[in-house]
Amino acid sequence: MNVLSIPKLFAKEGDTRVSQLRARLDDFYARENYPAFHGANDQGPFWQPIKAIVAQHLANRNGSNDKLRILEIGVGCTNFANFLGELRQEVEFHVQDITDRNVEYLNSQADHVHIMPITSLSGSYDIIFATFVWEHITNPRQCLDHLLLLTGIGCSLILASPRYDFPFYISPSSRHLAKWQQVAIGCWIAWKRLVTLITRSPQFLIHLEPAILHMPWFCDADAVHWVSFWDLKLYLRGKYDLKQIPLSLQGYYGQIWETFCLLFVEIRKL
Ligand SMILES: C[S@@+](CC[C@H](N)C(=O)[O-])C[C@H]1O[C@@H](n2cnc3c(N)ncnc32)[C@H](O)[C@@H]1O
Repeated sequence: MNVLSIPKLFAKEGDTRVSQLRARLDDFYARENYPAFHGANDQGPFWQPIKAIVAQHLANRNGSNDKLRILEIGVGCTNFANFLGELRQEVEFHVQDITDRNVEYLNSQADHVHIMPITSLSGSYDIIFATFVWEHITNPRQCLDHLLLLTGIGCSLILASPRYDFPFYISPSSRHLAKWQQVAIGCWIAWKRLVTLITRSPQFLIHLEPAILHMPWFCDADAVHWVSFWDLKLYLRGKYDLKQIPLSLQGYYGQIWETFCLLFVEIRKL
């Protein structure tokens, strides 16, 4: 790879190379020994504020006894239902993933299990959320549009994922490359982010040659969507409110990570 070929490592959804990448990723999630599928997960620091949003929605129901409809996307082996505690009985909990590997476990946790692409989901939900899925999605615009269709006014779409806006903080999906190549990609991505901000046109860049296609899995070797807060903000501007959800992490490192390297947002229709 030379410096001039860096732009060719990335594409936008709709490109046939992205569809080919999707097929290979789907195959990976269907077969490989993926740690997220090893047992019930624990995303407590993220679930805590989501649970508070659930409680808020329940409090705003104005006396209605209807259950709150919640959908979790890309669930893996979610333990969120148990985390809800007493609130669980006031909630209809739906889950979605693209692989049926955990279906038996998920049937024991959720009221409805949807094994299908996000864009095939139907119905309406009060809250939709996803933890550490957004960076694995290869059609972010389509998914966003679709998920927003499933959430009406006053409803919440919550996304938690790494983000790659901070200069030279790049996705581990490039870690199989030589250091100088990673630095060159870091420069190019910083340039793309600047162009996004100047032109106000979101990019939603997808990495076509992620490490997961070249070496055994390690954390976020499959983070092919190089998530940018600015892509999301610009894409939704004028139509949706985008609010950062604070985690209030302790320590110098935690605060830098939360401020610059983490996307944890609630999206609501204006
Ligand atoms: C890192 S795991 C996270 C699992 C779980 N949300 C958690 O927080 O532990 C990524 C999950 O995203 C799912 N996934 C990958 N691509 C997806 C897609 N295009 N649509 C929906 N889910 C996807 C995978 O099957 C996997 O369950």
